[in-house]
Amino acid sequence: MRVVTGKTSQTMAAAEFRRLASGYATCWLDVGAGDGALSYRLADDFPDALCLGLDPNAEAMAAQARRARRKPDRGGRANCLYVAAAVEAPPAELAGVARAITINFPWARLLEIVLGAGDGAPAALAEPLAALAAHDCAVQLLLNEVTDLPAVPAVEPAMLADRLTPAFAATGFQVAAADWLATDARVRSRWGGRLIRGSGRRVVRLRATRGAPGDRALAILDAVAM
Ligand SMILES: C[S@@+](CC[C@H](N)C(=O)[O-])C[C@H]1O[C@@H](n2cnc3c(N)ncnc32)[C@H](O)[C@@H]1O
Repeated sequence: MRVVTGKTSQTMAAAEFRRLASGYATCWLDVGAGDGALSYRLADDFPDALCLGLDPNAEAMAAQARRARRKPDRGGRANCLYVAAAVEAPPAELAGVARAITINFPWARLLEIVLGAGDGAPAALAEPLAALAAHDCAVQLLLNEVTDLPAVPAVEPAMLADRLTPAFAATGFQVAAADWLATDARVRSRWGGRLIRGSGRRVVRLRATRGAPGDRALAILDAVAM
């Protein structure tokens, strides 16, 4: 798979990734990581977790990737890694690794994958997520109430749960909660900071679990939006 190292990227083979992952108690994957700031921030709070950012836009993750690769005393985070890939084509190296998966503020193509874009393009999230997830895994989605999709102009908690439940259930995930995020919540991703802090905009939070994800995975989800 392609791992972003800065302005360039390099191939990481499955064996190398497995060696890296074996040093951590849990693995968290942020899908649609954007500039990767959230992975970098939480890597500091969760040194026992391998924190992966996944996004097809390698360039956007370049600065954080370069930062993460520095020596620890210069801001490096050995437990933070950025993978250039689209969620609908998940790298085989990541199959079954994630105990926690987050998707924060999907938009455009990624939002279409989450919600579907009408009759021509049904929601297509559950299968790639199930491929990336460990048997025991917790997933959290944060969605802006207003979307850019003509077929689904707005979301609200019950509607999102209804849309995702059948496909999630088919892959062993149960929707555990769907609610409005508190308007004073602090979401620690770049778009979270931009979209909701002080704006009064509403955000839907949905959680789904498979098996017993464990306290650490749930703590990571909690730390994304506090
Ligand atoms: C609005 S940004 C949100 C970024 C970040 N999650 C945040 O909260 O700051 C949406 C991100 O989804 C990514 N994206 C678009 N299509 C994607 C796909 N097929 N798979 C994974 N990520 C995708 C974009 O490159 C972009 O970085």
